[in-house]
Amino acid sequence: MSEKIYDVPPEWATRAYLDDHGYKTKYEASVRDPETFWGEEGKRIDWFEPYTKVKNTSFAPGAVSIKWFEDGVTNVAWNCIDRHLDTRGDQVAIIWEGDDPSESRHITYKELHDEVCRFANVLRNRNVEKGDRVTIYMPMIPEAAYAMLACARLGAIHSVVFGGFSPDSIAGRIVDCGSRVIITADEGLRGGRKVPLKANVDAAIAKVPADTVDHVIVVRRTGGAVDMTPGRDVWYDEAAALVTHECPATPMNAEDPLFILYTSGSTGSPKGVLHTTGGYLVFASMTHQYVFDYHEGDVYWCTADIGWVTGHSYIVYGPLANGATTVMFEGVPSYPSNGRFWEVIDKHKVNIFYTAPTAIRALMQSGDEPVKKTSRASLRLLGSVGEPINPEAWEWYHRVVGEERCPVVDTWWQTETGGILITPLPGATRLKPGSATRPFFGVIPQVVDAEGNIQEGACEGNLVIADSWPGQMRTVYGDHERFMQTYFSTYPNKYFTGDGCRRDADGYYWITGRVDDVINVSGHRMGTAEVESALVAHPKVSEAAVVGYPHDIKGQGIYAYVTLMSGVEPTEELRKELVTWVRREIGPIASPDLLQFAPSLPKTRSGKIMRRILRKIAEDEFGNLGDTSTLADPTVVDDLISHRQNKK
Ligand code: WTA
Repeated sequence: MSEKIYDVPPEWATRAYLDDHGYKTKYEASVRDPETFWGEEGKRIDWFEPYTKVKNTSFAPGAVSIKWFEDGVTNVAWNCIDRHLDTRGDQVAIIWEGDDPSESRHITYKELHDEVCRFANVLRNRNVEKGDRVTIYMPMIPEAAYAMLACARLGAIHSVVFGGFSPDSIAGRIVDCGSRVIITADEGLRGGRKVPLKANVDAAIAKVPADTVDHVIVVRRTGGAVDMTPGRDVWYDEAAALVTHECPATPMNAEDPLFILYTSGSTGSPKGVLHTTGGYLVFASMTHQYVFDYHEGDVYWCTADIGWVTGHSYIVYGPLANGATTVMFEGVPSYPSNGRFWEVIDKHKVNIFYTAPTAIRALMQSGDEPVKKTSRASLRLLGSVGEPINPEAWEWYHRVVGEERCPVVDTWWQTETGGILITPLPGATRLKPGSATRPFFGVIPQVVDAEGNIQEGACEGNLVIADSWPGQMRTVYGDHERFMQTYFSTYPNKYFTGDGCRRDADGYYWITGRVDDVINVSGHRMGTAEVESALVAHPKVSEAAVVGYPHDIKGQGIYAYVTLMSGVEPTEELRKELVTWVRREIGPIASPDLLQFAPSLPKTRSGKIMRRILRKIAEDEFGNLGDTSTLADPTVVDDLISHRQNKK
């Protein structure tokens, strides 16, 4: 644990929106009287019909209901585009940086308007209406943002599926939300390699009931050859040439859905996290402004993929609602070289840079040289998101990348929270490497023990949030019961985050990681149950248990214990086959890093797998297995230990 404290740099104390006193005053006001606070803050976006009600929320057992600004009428795309046209129509909205360093594009707000309207008209011509679900499976190209905003303009609900997911995963998501329209590209391009997006969509559609999908809209990216099914598939450029660049923004109630984003939990299939219109946008906009201390004219770059919530809130919706210039990067940090991030920062004069610890750790391994070759003079602020950042990586980021002049904001949040909940504010917060520090306005974190007793002062336990904030998810799409069960049943009347944390004597929060069966691989959430069910779907596998273990770059790696059907030989070849199998079933992010054949798994006498033991073995903590006396067959453990796979 790091004891180091970094003061707010003097220049920040003068340029930032808020200093420490300002933060404390505003925070107290926000939790003392949320109604007044958010009533004022809600005005940061334009409303077609103003709201008269602000907060109407309940975490009560069996009756969870979350509504913000519930009688207001607005449109998210209007707020992200149209309202800027008078003042900044010619300002760049999106800087797109291609996978190939020689490719980039600048899209002004005026151009964004025209492109989004065209895209919306293409959708409208395919009968997409308010409330319809549209699946987006796209590479990081401007059309991905156009597609999202086009849905928002029409009031259709987008479900973006990360381009690394497999046909099976896409199919499950298409069926769950019943989307009849899919938007994709011929191929994606990442690190010089092509990703067969359209082919994956075709394979996904082959797995869903016939007549589920009516239209597939295909954006040309690489020009690679793809199959087009007549009557179903259309090239976007051909369809767009037939429509105008004018399309009215549909009036949306504040609580009308904006998007669904699937995320892994500890049990079952991925959940469709549902976010709505008004509260989400107010929260995304406000957090983007204060956390990144965004000012007019800043160039802001978030390296996430739009397939994750970070891409939704902090590449598209938050920055565009604020009229910012947002960078969208198609490639990867290591291509064509490990200096790519820093070169792009110089090329586009990036002021604010937001990335993930896994990328920082990977780049740190190639040393200071690739960083030092660049100037980074434009950089003012650095951000981190997705997983706990270890103090070593934090220090390197701060010292080498930011040359000690750029504060690092370690932002804690989740797909479910819509926006950042615990974070430093650069002009207000003294930083401690590894700590996400203090709550954002309106957010009331609490630490509870296993029984739900609220802990006071310095303590450690599970992280819950005591009251609603406008960006909170509203439900699990199509399954409100599951929403209540997952997030509100462990600790009644509180939102349970699934994370453990420590609070120090200064009231700073240190997130320690998931306390449920979710592992965080390179900042991507993976449910162990999902990987297990993929493994047992293989004909040679009888049983599987999956746990996380510490991984130098990824944060956590995936460790799979597999019991084979009787008579099946455990060979190296089969091991590789099973890893490939999981990749194919879920996607590359779910590939087990280590896979151990286990003749049997440690179980209690009632047949329950003791994951605690499997976790300890995967973590290399054999000496600390705890009580194994309740095992049906304690000798199983010795066998597991003697065959433990070594870290790569
Ligand atoms: C983890 C990503 C520590 C956490 C925005 C959370 C973090 C999960 C941090 C959500 C952070 C995210 N420090 N842990 N700054 N940010 N996490 O839904 O375990 O993809 O519950 O949202 O990532 O992941 P999700």
